[in-house]
Amino acid sequence: MKASALSFKLAVLFVIAGMAMGIGMAAAQDHAIMPAHAHLNLLGWVSLFLFGIYYERRPALDTSRLARIQVWLWSAGTVVLTVSVAAIHLGYTAMDPVAALASLMVLAGMLLFGYFVFRPVASMAPTPSVGITPAE
Ligand code: HEM
Repeated sequence: MKASALSFKLAVLFVIAGMAMGIGMAAAQDHAIMPAHAHLNLLGWVSLFLFGIYYERRPALDTSRLARIQVWLWSAGTVVLTVSVAAIHLGYTAMDPVAALASLMVLAGMLLFGYFVFRPVASMAPTPSVGITPAE
């Protein structure tokens, strides 16, 4: 599967989980796990979807194994961070080291993405966008 397709599919799964969490918080009138909800939606939905758009515009990168590794690393970090942040805010402070590990996972995912963005490889340039011809 291409990295972009993987990003889009995982992003949709994350936002469904994030929305369910939000509805659960609202229904219970208990917003204790709000930071976990915010991280799940912003890392799992917004960021992952943006990665997908970037990959989709770069076909050579989109089919690379390294891009898929970036998506999986980011997604695994998001899951572990969400669960550990929720646990901490529910009083299980022993989960602190797990949250620290998860934060390093998402940092590594972002550093790998930064490597894609900054490396000077011509084949990784974006495909030209489709031109729009103005009506006469
Ligand atoms: C069914 C959809 C959703 C529901 C029911 C929901 C519900 C909630 C609730 C109840 C809070 C706590 C507010 C507070 O305690 O002040 C919250 C916070 C938050 N939500 Fe959602 N949410 C939903 C979707 C989303 C999505 C899609 C995103 C991001 C793309 C998002 C991002 C955030 C953020 C960043 C916060 C923290 C806001 C703050 O710091 O005050 N939420 N949400």
